[in-house]
Amino acid sequence: MDMAWPVITMLLAWVAALWGAQSRIPGPRMDLLNICMDTKHHKTKPCPEDYTSQELHKDTSRLYNFTWDHCGKMEPACKHHFIQDNCLYECSPNLGPWIQEVNQSWRKERILHVPLCREDCEQWWRDCRTSYTCKSNWHRGWNWTSGVNKCPARTTCRTFEAYFPTPAALCEGIWDHSYKATNYSRGSGRCIQMWFDPAQGNPNEEVARFYAGARNAGVMPQGIEPLLLSLAPMLYLWLLG
Ligand SMILES: *[C@@H]1O[C@H](CO)[C@@H](O)[C@H](O)[C@H]1NC(C)=O
Ligand SMILES: *[C@@H]1O[C@H](CO)[C@@H](O)[C@H](O)[C@H]1NC(C)=O
Ligand SMILES: *[C@@H]1O[C@H](CO)[C@@H](O)[C@H](O)[C@H]1NC(C)=O
Ligand SMILES: *[C@@H]1O[C@H](CO)[C@@H](O)[C@H](O)[C@H]1NC(C)=O
Repeated sequence: MDMAWPVITMLLAWVAALWGAQSRIPGPRMDLLNICMDTKHHKTKPCPEDYTSQELHKDTSRLYNFTWDHCGKMEPACKHHFIQDNCLYECSPNLGPWIQEVNQSWRKERILHVPLCREDCEQWWRDCRTSYTCKSNWHRGWNWTSGVNKCPARTTCRTFEAYFPTPAALCEGIWDHSYKATNYSRGSGRCIQMWFDPAQGNPNEEVARFYAGARNAGVMPQGIEPLLLSLAPMLYLWLLG
């Protein structure tokens, strides 16, 4: 037993050194952080405080001539979520890990599968279930001949709930899988919050760093974990000896 201790100490030091080396390797891909969609100005902050109040008085989005009132007036509580959604899309510097290239006439990039916090998705759905729409995918299929989006022929205005029976159906379906519904809670560091108080800091920064890092880790050489696992029985044998 006496002879074992120097060896165990050495092994432990080696394990510690390996862990140290491993934790230095990954680190988030900086090129996925602090970037915005290609059509947008580089922003380091989310929307200005007055954005929401300005937009709430309009029935058509400033940038895309997209109207939320295509089936009569959308309820203000519901519209609030769309303005916030627009705000996140336009102004968030934290969507880098989910930006993808696309070949479409009206854009070259899109966001795909942004993991939305469960509460944000549920609240959006609750506040919108009584408003009306005529489509379950708002990215395509509108009649734009008048300059704003109109319901295409052979569609019917029904409640959101009829088109989106669950919160996930809304959050994932409405923008063609730009968002992914998750079971992560606000503050978990694993989901993007549509709503947050900028005065308290931006919780999405940490989330973007996490997913940028996770993506990077996927291409790192593996092999440290198996090594550590193979060390465990050796340690055990030394202790028994
Ligand atoms: C929105 O509509 C106005 C008036 O029809 C037009 O001048 C403007 O270019 C449109 N904006 C976009 C982004 O299509
Ligand atoms: C887009 O189209 C161009 C030319 O048609 C092609 O070279 C490019 O690979 C396409 N990009 C994507 C992301 O599909
Ligand atoms: C698009 O809307 C216009 C009226 O704004 C209508 O005349 C036309 O038939 C519609 N087209 C389709 C494909 O629904
Ligand atoms: C969340 O968890 C519930 C219960 O485990 C499951 O039924 C549901 O599919 C999950 N939702 C998502 C978006 O993962």
